[in-house]
Amino acid sequence: MKKISNVLFLVSGIFICHFAKAQTLAGKPYQEAHRPQVHFSPREHWTNDPNGMLYYKGTYHLFFQYYPKDIIWGPMHWGHAISKDLMHWKELPIALYPDSLGYIFSGSAVVDSNNTSGFGRDGKIPLVAIFTHHDPKGEKEGKNNFQNESLAYSLDEGNTWTKYSGNPVLKNPGIKDFRDPKVTWYAKEKKWVMTLATLDHITFYSSPNLKDWKKESEFGKEIGAHGGVWECPDLFPLKLNGKTYWVLIVNLNPGGPNGGSATQYFIGEFDGNKFTTMDNDIRWADYGPDEYAGITWSNTGSRKIFLGWMSNWQYANQVPTEKWRNAMTIPKELGLRQADGKILLTSNPVRELANIERAPIDINNSLLTGKSAKRIPDQFILKFNINKINDYSVILSNDEGEKLIIGYDNTKKQYYIDRAKSGKIDFNAEFAKRAFAPRLTSNTSSSNIELVIDVSSVELFADNGLTAMTGIFFPHKTFTQLQIQNSKGAIIRNLKLLPLKSIWRRTGH
Ligand code: FRU
Repeated sequence: MKKISNVLFLVSGIFICHFAKAQTLAGKPYQEAHRPQVHFSPREHWTNDPNGMLYYKGTYHLFFQYYPKDIIWGPMHWGHAISKDLMHWKELPIALYPDSLGYIFSGSAVVDSNNTSGFGRDGKIPLVAIFTHHDPKGEKEGKNNFQNESLAYSLDEGNTWTKYSGNPVLKNPGIKDFRDPKVTWYAKEKKWVMTLATLDHITFYSSPNLKDWKKESEFGKEIGAHGGVWECPDLFPLKLNGKTYWVLIVNLNPGGPNGGSATQYFIGEFDGNKFTTMDNDIRWADYGPDEYAGITWSNTGSRKIFLGWMSNWQYANQVPTEKWRNAMTIPKELGLRQADGKILLTSNPVRELANIERAPIDINNSLLTGKSAKRIPDQFILKFNINKINDYSVILSNDEGEKLIIGYDNTKKQYYIDRAKSGKIDFNAEFAKRAFAPRLTSNTSSSNIELVIDVSSVELFADNGLTAMTGIFFPHKTFTQLQIQNSKGAIIRNLKLLPLKSIWRRTGH
């Protein structure tokens, strides 16, 4: 290995970085085994999908599917957390409880600036949540209309919520899976558009006032991935070279590229009534096993910020955590890019992640000289460029011999996450399978990687966000060593390791 003007050349080799760990303060909130330190998870109990994500007056609201009595899925509530910077979260009291119409399933929230709903009083702007009421009794009785869409509103900037007395506002026409409304303002026609998951397709509805809904069109019966039920959709415009494209997100369970749940997307046009795609390709917003139910914040202007649930229905109820179960991904900024003649969605960590970065650790030097161990926290970002592309891998390991491998196979043109030896894996047979993701550009001269690594998760962003891949893991002891291997002449340079501050300790929640 030799260093030439700050560029690290690894001709073929291995470098290892050891780090001591901060003592685990087991038992304290947010410090239990496997607890993410830079990702949102509720203080206690079960969570799945992010819901009602809304930005208003400088605050990001995050609601989430929540069961406050156990660490398994149960009667759904909307938990609630807020943040000023998308990183530090403060958990608030539960926003919506189940009622006589059923559990509170997934949905969205909007700022009704023109008070189209009439919920506003004394000039106060209503925030309106649109969610699915899931009636467990109807489901048990074998009915097919037990999911209906309902409203709740807030007149105190999202602090407290009142359910609308006229619920439900959109009645089920007899489709068992009829849920997860994502509502957006369609300015051109001054109307609300609801994107709804209806079993194996999307149904679009429109409304002048959020209360009266009219069916506009259907999309997708014959297009896209159909290995399971369509859930949690989203619809929004994004610009590329001055032209507007519409992105339709459709979550799917099961049938993801690595099994179980995953997020697919379509790019095309939306004219207020109908969505049409540019082509029939199947595309995934995240190829890894552990990003699901991802959608975007509303009311953030042209900036589109995406957040997913960091698990998979294959094993979400079994992962080996206590007190709490499951977390959200890092918020990601979405964009469009042309690669190999196709327009693709890109995702990258939001710029606010820099707010919790610590000074970079000079790993180049220590790795090169084989100097003594450096102390590196549990959570960090690892970035590097590959300027001669061939096989390489990043290995996290501990002194129990457990390891997680994130790598690239140049023959197959695939990124992968291998957790076969990553520790606790036997809670579900699917968990240990190696996960793959395609490299989506044929640019052979350079590539770049960003890994966001937390106590029990890795998020890979490759080629400036063209390929994203999320995976969770549960070592018996926290990983304490980092190793990078390259072969077949792969050249890695500009290696950067940025430790991250825990989002919990500072705020002391
Ligand atoms: C997706 C999902 C949604 C539903 C919610 C129930 O993970 O199945 O379709 O609204 O979870 O918790």
